[in-house]
Amino acid sequence: MNDTFLKAARGEPVDYTPVWIMRQAGRYLPQYHEVRNKGTFLELCKNPERAAEVTIQPIDYLGVDAAILFSDILVPMEAMGLELDFVEKRGPVFAHPVRDRAAVDRLGIPDPEDDLGFVMETIRILRRELSGRVPLIGFSGAPFTLATYLIEGGSSKNYINTKRMMYQDPELYHALMRKITDCTIAYLSGQIAAGAQAVQVFDSWAGVLAPCDYAEFSLPYVKEIVSALSGKGVPVIYFANNGASLLDLTTTCGADVLGIDWRISLDKVVDKIAGRMSVQGNMDPIALFLPEDKLASRIRQVLEQGRAARGHIFNLGHGIVPETPPEQARLAVELVHSISRELR
Ligand code: CP3
Repeated sequence: MNDTFLKAARGEPVDYTPVWIMRQAGRYLPQYHEVRNKGTFLELCKNPERAAEVTIQPIDYLGVDAAILFSDILVPMEAMGLELDFVEKRGPVFAHPVRDRAAVDRLGIPDPEDDLGFVMETIRILRRELSGRVPLIGFSGAPFTLATYLIEGGSSKNYINTKRMMYQDPELYHALMRKITDCTIAYLSGQIAAGAQAVQVFDSWAGVLAPCDYAEFSLPYVKEIVSALSGKGVPVIYFANNGASLLDLTTTCGADVLGIDWRISLDKVVDKIAGRMSVQGNMDPIALFLPEDKLASRIRQVLEQGRAARGHIFNLGHGIVPETPPEQARLAVELVHSISRELR
C-alpha cells in the first residue's frame, strides 16, 4: 500500500510529502455532479455504493495519497434525532434548533452499526475497492463546531445563540457537549472498527472563539475524543480552522497531527509544536488559481517550511472550492510530489 500518508502522520521517514485535499470529492469535479445529480446530497451520503464511488473519484483523477470518506459532519447529528436538510445556496438547516433542556434531553446517542450503518457499509466497500491503494480517512466534526449547527439551526455569522448559551447557561451548553462528545466517540470508534485507517476531527469554527472560551468550551471535549481513540492504532488528525490565535492550546490536544489553515506560516506552527505532533496544511485553496510557476513556488515555500516538522502532510487550508479547475488541483498534487522529492 502507499502508506506515505500514515508514515508522515506518525512522524516516520518518507520519500516525498503526502498530500490529500479537504473536500477532494466534490463539486469542482464534473464526475461528482454526474453522481450527485441522481438525488439529494443526503441521499448520496446514505447510499454506500455511490458514496464510495465519489470517494474514489479524486484518487483516480488527482493521484492523492489518501481517500476521505464521503459524508458530512452533520450526518450523525441527524441520527441523534434531529431533522436535517441541505438547502441549495443556504447549506445545512436544522428545522428545530437545540436551545433548551428538553431538546438536549431528547437527543439520543446513535449506535454506529444500527443507526449509521450506511456509513460503516461505505467504509467497508471502500476498503475493498481501494484494495490497499491508499489509506482511508474517516472523520467527524469537533463537538464545538457541531454544537454551533445544532444551536444556531444552520450556518452562522456571529454565533450569538451558541455564545449566549455558553455564557448564560453553561450547564446546558456542557450537557449538550457531553452528548455530542459521547456520540462522536462512538461514531469514530465505529468507523475505525469498520476499517478507517486514520480519522480527522474537523473544528471548522474553532477560530471564532476567544482563547479563554476555546480552553473552556471546546478543547476539553477534543482532548476527551483524542484520548478515547488513542490505543486504537490509527492516527488522529485535529483540524482547527482559523486557529492561528489558538496554537498554545491546540498543540496540547494530544492528536498525532495538527491541521492548520493558511492564515499563519507553517514554520511558526512547527516551532510551537516542538516535535510533539506532525502538521497538516496549509496552502490557501484559492492559490490553486495561481499560474503554474507561481503555484510551484508557493508549494515549494510550504514544503520548505514543513521540513522541520516531525512529519508533514500537505493540504489546503479549508477545502477546495467548487470553482476550481480540476486540472489545477491535479497539477498541485504533482508539484507537491515532485518538489518534495527534490527537497529530500
Ligand atoms: O472532504 C471530503 O471530500 C469529504 C466530504 C466532506 C463533505 N463535508 C462533503 C460536502 C466533509 C469531510 C465535510 C465536512 C463538513 N461539512 C464540514 C467541515 C469541513 C469544513 O468545510 O470546514 C462542515 C462545516 C460541513 C457542513 C456543511 N456541509 C456545509 C456548511 C455545507 C454547505 C457548503 C456549501 O458550500 O454548500 C455542506 C455540504 C457539503 N458537504 C457538500 C459536500 C460535497 C456540498 C453538497 C452538494 O453537493 O450540494
